[in-house]
Amino acid sequence: MNNNFPLLPDQASTFAKQVDDIALVITLLTVFFTVAVMGMLVFLAIRYRRGSNVNRESSGSHNIYLEIGWTLPPLVLGLGMFAWSVKPYAEVFNPPPDAEEIFVIGKRWMWHMQHTVNGIRENNELHIPMGRPFKLTLISQDVIHGFYVPDFRMKRDAMPGQFNTVWFEATKPGKHHLFCTEYCGTDHSQMGGWVYVLSPQDYNLWVKSNGTSTQPVESPVQAGFDLYTQLACANCHKEQDSLRAPTLYNLPGRYRNLQNGTTVIADDNYIRKAIRVPDENVLQGYSPTMPSYKDNLDEQQIHDLIMYIKSLGNGSPPPVKAKVGSIGGAGGTLRQPGNAAKLDTVLGSASSSANTPAPNSPTPTSGSPAPTGSLPAESPSGVRTPAGGSSKQ
Ligand code: CUA
Repeated sequence: MNNNFPLLPDQASTFAKQVDDIALVITLLTVFFTVAVMGMLVFLAIRYRRGSNVNRESSGSHNIYLEIGWTLPPLVLGLGMFAWSVKPYAEVFNPPPDAEEIFVIGKRWMWHMQHTVNGIRENNELHIPMGRPFKLTLISQDVIHGFYVPDFRMKRDAMPGQFNTVWFEATKPGKHHLFCTEYCGTDHSQMGGWVYVLSPQDYNLWVKSNGTSTQPVESPVQAGFDLYTQLACANCHKEQDSLRAPTLYNLPGRYRNLQNGTTVIADDNYIRKAIRVPDENVLQGYSPTMPSYKDNLDEQQIHDLIMYIKSLGNGSPPPVKAKVGSIGGAGGTLRQPGNAAKLDTVLGSASSSANTPAPNSPTPTSGSPAPTGSLPAESPSGVRTPAGGSSKQ
C-alpha cells in the first residue's frame, strides 16, 4: 500500500493477504448491490412520480425467471463468500503443532507476555522472529480485553477465567502496533504497545541477551581480539619475540627490563601505559617504533585489549613451544579467542606435572576462559591419569 495514503495497514503476516482479499471482494459485492438497488429505487421513484405520464396498470402476479434471477445469484455469492472465509477462519484458531507458545495476560491496563520456550517476559512489547509460527494463549486478570495487531490481521479476546488461543506467522520485519480492542475502562486507549518482528539472526541475539538487546553480546576478550586485528597489532607482536617487537603471548606477570633502566612487572597498568605511551615503556633491545594509541582508544577498548592479551597466557613461558606454534598456525597468524581454552589446556596440563594444583583449584591462568575438554582426567582418588591415547606430552 502507498505510504502517503494507506487505505490498509501493512500486510505483515501470512493471514494478512487472505483476509484483505476476502474483505475486498465483500466490499466490492456490497458496493455493487448497493448501487444496483439504490439506482433502481431512484430510477423508479422518478419514473413513477406523481403526475408523470406512464403506464400504471398492475403487472402479472409473478415472473419465474425474474424471481430465480434475484434469488439464485445472491445465494451462490453468499455461500461462496462463506466457503471462502471459513478456511482461513478455521486456520486462525488452529495453531500448527510446531508453533511456539507465548502466554499473554491482559490486565487493566497493560499486556504482559511470557515466551514459554526461553522464559523471557515482556510488557506491552513482543519480540518475535519472522517466518516462524507463534501461538498465543490469552487470558485476562480482570475484564475482557482484545489483543489486536492490525498489521497481522489478528485479533483475539483475552477473557477472565478462560484461555483463548490464536496464532500467527509474521512475514515482515519491523515494528507493528498492538492494541486493546475491548473498552476496558479509564486507560483503555493507552493499553497497547508494539510487536517487534526481527530477522531470525537478530531474534537469536535478542534471546541470548535475555531480551535486552539485539546487539551481539561480545566478551571483552572477543572485543579485544577484534581491536587487535583491526589495529594490526600482530604485524609486529607475533607469537615469539621478533626483531620489531616483543611477543605479547604470556606477557602478564613477567618482569620487563625497560630502556630507562627500570624493571617493572607487566600488570594491567603497565600494559595500559605501554599502549598509550609506548615511547616511555620500550623494552631493552627494541627501538621506539610503536605509535601511541592515547588518542584513538578509549578506556573500554584498552581494557578489552588487555583482556585479550591476558587470554594469550600469563607469566610462565610456554613449555611446549611446538604445540603453541601449531595452534597459532604458521606465519604469525592470530589465535582466535575460541582456541584459548585449547592453549590453556596445553599449558595447564604441562605445568600440572611440575606443580600439581589442588583438586578443584581455580585455573592457573586468571582472566582466561576455563580450560575445557581434554584436560587429563582426574580419578576419584585425586590422582591424575593421563588422558587416554591422545596424550600430547
Ligand atoms: Cu484492555 Cu481495552
